[in-house]
This record gives sequence, structure tokens and C-alpha cells, in this order.
Amino acid sequence: MFFLSLLSFTLASPSDLPSGECASDTKTSADLSGKELYLTHCAGCHQADGSGEEGFFPPVVNTPWVESPSALTEVLLRGVSGTIYVNEKRYASYMSPYGKDLSNKDIVAIVQYVRQELNTYPTVPWTESDVATLRAKHLDSTAIRGQKGLDALLTTTQNTESTTDE
Ligand code: HEC
Repeated sequence: MFFLSLLSFTLASPSDLPSGECASDTKTSADLSGKELYLTHCAGCHQADGSGEEGFFPPVVNTPWVESPSALTEVLLRGVSGTIYVNEKRYASYMSPYGKDLSNKDIVAIVQYVRQELNTYPTVPWTESDVATLRAKHLDSTAIRGQKGLDALLTTTQNTESTTDE
């Protein structure tokens, strides 16, 4: 039953789904828990336990990009392409962006689930308005490109105010 409903959710095209912002009486994607959202949108590649698949899908446990809520959010909003190393294993693939499929609320729920349930990172404040800020900043951004792009997420998160170089 559970998987059937997940399946139909996956098959529904994003435009069939109520916008989530205004609907409060129907079950929208915004009502799904972080776990349900993770199983629907991420586990197909990264596995239910986050261990990934060596050579194809990197793990989402014990990586610096899941430890940082802003880096994780940016990965979801922009997607990733090119050659990267995660926990010393090489991946040269592509992850599409999820900014259109996931609301700010969904992203907060996934970030919390991945950080606190799949991993044991301490809770840090991360809100819909933090996601909205990154979303606005990256409206026209392309996919995060390769190792340099991924590493930049970790340095820019520390001092978001002073990232005018480049
Ligand atoms: C269709 C397969 C697929 C799906 C679905 C997917 N990813 Fe990915 N993800 C990838 C691949 C492949 C990469 C590495 C891209 C590369 O090699 O450049 C990646 C990279 C990542 C990274 C950065 C590296 C790391 O492991 O720390 C994170 C974080 C991540 N994904 C989280 C997620 C989350 C959370 C979801 C669910 C919203 C998700 N992904 C959905 C395939 C997928």
C-alpha cells in the first residue's frame, strides 16, 4: 500500500500537484514527511539507508555536503554534474535539479531527514526562508560543476556575505 501510493506520487507530473503554498485541506507534497520525500525522490539512487551505489550514486551519509544544510540545499536546487570524489570514491555522472519538484518546505524536511535520521549530525536551524534565499540567488544558476563546484559550496557557506570573487 505504502509503496503503491509512493509510486502514484512519483508518476504524477509536478503540474498535477496542488501548489502546496495555499492548499491546506488536501494532502499535498508539503504534507509528506522528510522520510516519505526522501524515499520518493532520493532513495531510488542513494538507497533507503543513504549508502548509495559505488561508482554510480555517491552516499549521502558522512559527506561534508550533507553535513552542511546550505550545501545540501544547493545540491537539491541546482543538481550536480561532472567528476567528483565522495569519501575517496570517484563519480562522473549527473544529478538533475529538484528545485521545481520540491517546495521550500519539502527541502527543509529532506535536509532535516538526511542530516538527523540518515546521519547523526546535530540539529541546526534551517528554515523555509533560508531555502527561499538560496532559491532566489540561484534562479539562473546551472548545475554545480565537478569537484571545484562542490568544494565551493563548503567555503561559500561559511561566509555567504563575501563571495564576490570570480
Ligand atoms: C537519478 C539518480 C539520483 C536521484 C534520484 C538523486 N540523486 Fe543525488 N546524486 C546523484 C548522482 C549521480 C550524484 C553525483 C553527480 C556527479 O557524479 O557529478 C549525486 C550527488 C548528490 C550529492 C552530493 C554528493 C554527496 O553524496 O554528498 C548529494 C548531497 C545528493 N546527491 C543528495 C540527493 C538527495 C537528497 C536526493 C533526493 C532529493 C537526490 N540526491 C536524488 C544521483 C541522484
